[in-house]
Amino acid sequence: MFGRMAEVWIKLFQEEFNGLLDWSTGEEALRRMASDYTEDLVFMPDVVVEPRSVAEVQQVFKWAYAHNVPVTPAGAMTGLSGGALPVEGGISLSSRRMNRIIEIDELNHQVIVEPGVIVQELQEAVQEKALFYAVDPASRGTCTIGGNLAENSGGPRAVKYGVTKDWVLNLQVVLMDGTVLETGANTLKNSTGYNLTSLMVGSEGTLGYITQATLKLLPWPKHNALMLVPFASASLACRAVSEIFIAGAQPSALEFMERSAIELAMEHEGLDSNALAADVAAHLLIEVDGFEPGALMPQLERIYSVLNHIGSGEPLMAEDDAAKEKLWRLRRVVGEAVKSKCPYKEEDTVVPRGRLPELLHEVKRIGTEFGFESICYGHAGDGNLHVNILKDGVSDEFWEVELPGAIREIFKEVKALGGTLSGEHGIGWVQKPYMDLAFSAASIELQRNIKAVFDAKNLLNPSKIWPSDDSKI
Ligand code: LAC
Ligand code: ZN
Repeated sequence: MFGRMAEVWIKLFQEEFNGLLDWSTGEEALRRMASDYTEDLVFMPDVVVEPRSVAEVQQVFKWAYAHNVPVTPAGAMTGLSGGALPVEGGISLSSRRMNRIIEIDELNHQVIVEPGVIVQELQEAVQEKALFYAVDPASRGTCTIGGNLAENSGGPRAVKYGVTKDWVLNLQVVLMDGTVLETGANTLKNSTGYNLTSLMVGSEGTLGYITQATLKLLPWPKHNALMLVPFASASLACRAVSEIFIAGAQPSALEFMERSAIELAMEHEGLDSNALAADVAAHLLIEVDGFEPGALMPQLERIYSVLNHIGSGEPLMAEDDAAKEKLWRLRRVVGEAVKSKCPYKEEDTVVPRGRLPELLHEVKRIGTEFGFESICYGHAGDGNLHVNILKDGVSDEFWEVELPGAIREIFKEVKALGGTLSGEHGIGWVQKPYMDLAFSAASIELQRNIKAVFDAKNLLNPSKIWPSDDSKI
């Protein structure tokens, strides 16, 4: 009705919601929602709204729909593809005040949550009842379940337990026009109608806003064992990954870190990275879990015998919980450590597991050809390699003008290896230019049409996932 002219609609919003809802146009609140963990991007919203209930979400959506104001759903702003950045301004819709664990259903091994629940808090709450929420992203201490649902987050345990989508039974969703619906049922099986639950998970807040999720739980496999295995060649470490599975092992985590990744993490944690032996080029961090503590060391020993046969170095076994936590902490802070070193761009490449050695080779070859350094690490057991391209050592001009071409080269190789653009971070704002490599024109058109069915006015998290604005109606 009023177009998107901010000064006009902000005044109307203030009049409409004066004394109602939690909202702010204050600098500090706006700034909190303007950046996430993606590069150094900043997009200020015009208003931040923090609804407390589905009814309040509906109120905001109906108002925004009537006034043609964009709404960008946001959680804890830990995203790595800019999915929650309000790139067209408008309303930033925070899940902060919808953070209740509504019910832990011990009879059915399910939990019902609101989107603002912190993932680690969810994990700990269900563990008190000897239950297990399996998805465990590196940012678990701060990220929200709503953000995980939006991006279909993964993390180290995905290799055994899958990613967020594998644990979702049912969602309550508010559409842009204010309609509220359920996507499925709270059942373990469901062959009824289209799978809207799966469509919603990973749609990066572009189709609807999740106000409630029913998630599946497992009995808690309380015990685990962990080892760090060094390799003199990063390529050998990547080749070893498939051999572990071929030997019949099922690790609960299988992570890869090249030397520079663990060095940076050690420095970030105040440890002396000179302690690393000179001939170590990469590590695999390998965990097994289960219900019987006695069964775990034999599993690690079996895995180690495979690695030893291939030519790994001697493993470091984590002796106790403190040692485990120390190793996991090093792995989890790699992203943060890279970010604090210098500006960088992260690609969340993923290929079929057996092609990981070729992926690493191609990334390094393209780096040499274009003249940039990269730090690679990630979820090797899933074929999911985080490629962090460093700004250090390259010109501003290269960064702006030539780097997108180099990234395109990487994604072309990813595609040729049978992989795709993102394993767990999403497309969001930063990976849009490469979507033509992932999908045919017909598939892109179909997906854009799906977006239009859910959000005919293109107001919900606009300008995300798809390359340009021509999907606007
Ligand atoms: C990690 C995040 C960056 O694996 O996905 O550390
Ligand atoms: Zn990751």
